[in-house]
Amino acid sequence: MHDFLKALPKAELHLHIEGSLEPELMFALAERNGIALPYNSIEAVRAAYDFNDLQSFLDLYYQGMSVLQTPEDFYDLTMAYLRRAHQDGVVHVDMHFDPQGHLVRGISLAVVMEGLTSAQVDADKELGVSSALIMAFLRDRPATEAMEVLESAQPWLSHISAVGLDSAEQGNPPSRFTEVFRRAKDLGLERVAHAGEEGPADYIREALDLLDVSRIDHGVRCLEDPALVARLRDEQTVLTVCPLSNVRLKVVADMADHPLPKLLEAGLNITLNSDDPAYFGGGMLANYQACADAFGWNRDTFRTLATNALQAAYMADSRRQQLLAQVTACN
Ligand code: HPA
Ligand code: ZN
Repeated sequence: MHDFLKALPKAELHLHIEGSLEPELMFALAERNGIALPYNSIEAVRAAYDFNDLQSFLDLYYQGMSVLQTPEDFYDLTMAYLRRAHQDGVVHVDMHFDPQGHLVRGISLAVVMEGLTSAQVDADKELGVSSALIMAFLRDRPATEAMEVLESAQPWLSHISAVGLDSAEQGNPPSRFTEVFRRAKDLGLERVAHAGEEGPADYIREALDLLDVSRIDHGVRCLEDPALVARLRDEQTVLTVCPLSNVRLKVVADMADHPLPKLLEAGLNITLNSDDPAYFGGGMLANYQACADAFGWNRDTFRTLATNALQAAYMADSRRQQLLAQVTACN
């Protein structure tokens, strides 16, 4: 099964590029930029990754990104991730990035975009891995700030496929960002939002109704609302589920307890993703393998999941058709 899962052409729809920062690179960039880290060793960093909930992770996630200072840093981060993804059999990544996580530290959007986009070009050329960018807004910061970021991103709009919404979910409902997402739609951008990870099922409904999103990131708590499940099934809204993330952030107790089998049984359009692979114990292949181990799914199920992701990915249709044929042929 492992060889099959590795060979399966996988698209990743939910990956925070800043969450792909492995401790080794964190140390290297800290040294390059003369930044002091509150850890003595790489082992100490890994030992700190023992989370109780989303906020305990976010605290270290924002601290970790402090080593990202120059376009070269963002390039190295992105290239390193796309190389690892390529080794996992990933053929395409829709990457979230968090401009406000950098702006608050005095790092401009130009610096971030220069690094990310040059890595995208090189990964396409050198690895054959395609990618797209999702500019995410931090929902625990003011909507006015998100709007300013969106307006300031206009020079780079041709490099950005969608806007997203992430960070601390509880108490920060999608409704606060209605105008920002309406403006993003007017600017021709697709829309996705994290909802129903730690927050209630109602936030999923808000994201659909008020933010007009085409995908829900996580969405696992939809099961608490049968009418919502029926709607998600009827509309075949894509849920970007991140199983190892859910275990590490204690959204679920363990893999055996994960609602993925129920979500599939309900006829929902499910994809598997890694979220923040450096923090949650594994990339795409590890997430696929964890599902094989926990649920005993057969190859047909994994081909369906890989197909769902390719169909929803922000990629050229000609490439999509080629990759879909490869999934069908993968045995
Ligand atoms: N949830 C919310 N915000 C995030 C996450 C996540 O899993 N990862 C990075 N920012
Ligand atoms: Zn996420």
